[in-house]
Amino acid sequence: MTKLDQIRAAEAKLLLSTYDRSPILFVGGEGVHVIDENGAKYLDLLSGIGVNALGYNHSAIVETIARQSRSLIHVSNLFYHEGQAELGMRLTERTGLDRVFFANTGTEAWEGALKLARAYAGLKRSEGVKIGTKFLALEQSFHGRTFGSMSTTYKEKYREPFGPVVPGVEFVRFNDVADLRAKFSNETCAILVEAIQGEGGVRPLTQEFFAEARALADSTGALLIADEIQAGMGRTGKWCAYQHYGIQPDVTTLAKPLAGGLPLGAVLCTEEVARAMHAGMHGTTFGGGPLTCAVGIAVIDAIEKEGLLARATEAGNYFQERLRWLASRHEAVVDVRGKGLMLAAELDSVELAKLTVAEMLKRRIVINCTSDTVLRFLPPYILERFHVDTAIAALDEIFTEHAAAHSAAAPSLGGHHHG
Ligand SMILES: Cc1ncc(COP(=O)(O)O)c(C=O)c1O
Repeated sequence: MTKLDQIRAAEAKLLLSTYDRSPILFVGGEGVHVIDENGAKYLDLLSGIGVNALGYNHSAIVETIARQSRSLIHVSNLFYHEGQAELGMRLTERTGLDRVFFANTGTEAWEGALKLARAYAGLKRSEGVKIGTKFLALEQSFHGRTFGSMSTTYKEKYREPFGPVVPGVEFVRFNDVADLRAKFSNETCAILVEAIQGEGGVRPLTQEFFAEARALADSTGALLIADEIQAGMGRTGKWCAYQHYGIQPDVTTLAKPLAGGLPLGAVLCTEEVARAMHAGMHGTTFGGGPLTCAVGIAVIDAIEKEGLLARATEAGNYFQERLRWLASRHEAVVDVRGKGLMLAAELDSVELAKLTVAEMLKRRIVINCTSDTVLRFLPPYILERFHVDTAIAALDEIFTEHAAAHSAAAPSLGGHHHG
């Protein structure tokens, strides 16, 4: 039995079977590569689902963890430490918002945003404004797995087994301005969006839809909340994906790459919205600890020092151009979407999408598939053009072989019929 076999057998017995893992045992990483137990290097175009923005083993992260862990790892939110205000300053400057609450994960940040919206609506009611408690979320949205997040997440498969979900959520057809107008009212306390939907298939909002959401929210005092957990922190070439639209939300959430692989989430809001929160209303034991904040600061500083926003834009444009070239060669590629290094190639079948992920893994390239048919690319921001070329060549080969196998299968199928 190999070590991997032993681990698989033990996990199968011991863990809740929530994950369908690929049979690879990773033990290390360097730059854009993750390394398995045999020393084989995989080009990682997924970066731990959009987390390892600086790649693996980045000196800024490794050294900060070593240094900070020697002084202080945890102290709780009952006391001060040096990290929260310093990271808070960096985040407010870069998001255009005024105040931060630190959480641990994406879903926890999103729960904080939902609670903030309800608390703010309550405050407005106490000030005589007519405003309800309803959330408008979007079809195909994904906001996480805890109850509030799950209840504002569109796909049935995430909600249905755990019902009843949190009431007061209605879903609006994606990018459908008329549907948004029809469903929005004084009952709405917040409109919930991802500027570019991630799990939903890397789908950007239209300028018109986003602007209408902003205008409707402004018309009643409801909040516009942008979930930037996947698209934010520089992935699209700007700190937040909403900045491509020139639209400012009242609240945003960050997580994934925020602390370079350590768990850290953040909710940010305007000064006006922050009025709704008082001591004791919300909190967390671990959120915004000294270690994760120190790494968060180091990640932002490294992104700026190494010019990684520009690099995400440049490498992303090149990647997208090469995906479009693939689409021009292969009918199976039906659409190419995304911004910066948040990219997707939509294929014409579930079967081909699955096969492509598996074939890429055989060629030691990590990608993933979301929404059944969408190949998703969330590489580290340190990606170089030659990495893109490697990936495109592999995809070209896989699609070519698949098309050849199909056209070879077709006549023999025809032969059957005639025979
Ligand atoms: C847009 C968005 N929101 C929220 C989440 C949930 O984050 P976490 O898995 O850290 O709870 C994710 C995770 O994929 C996400 O992409």
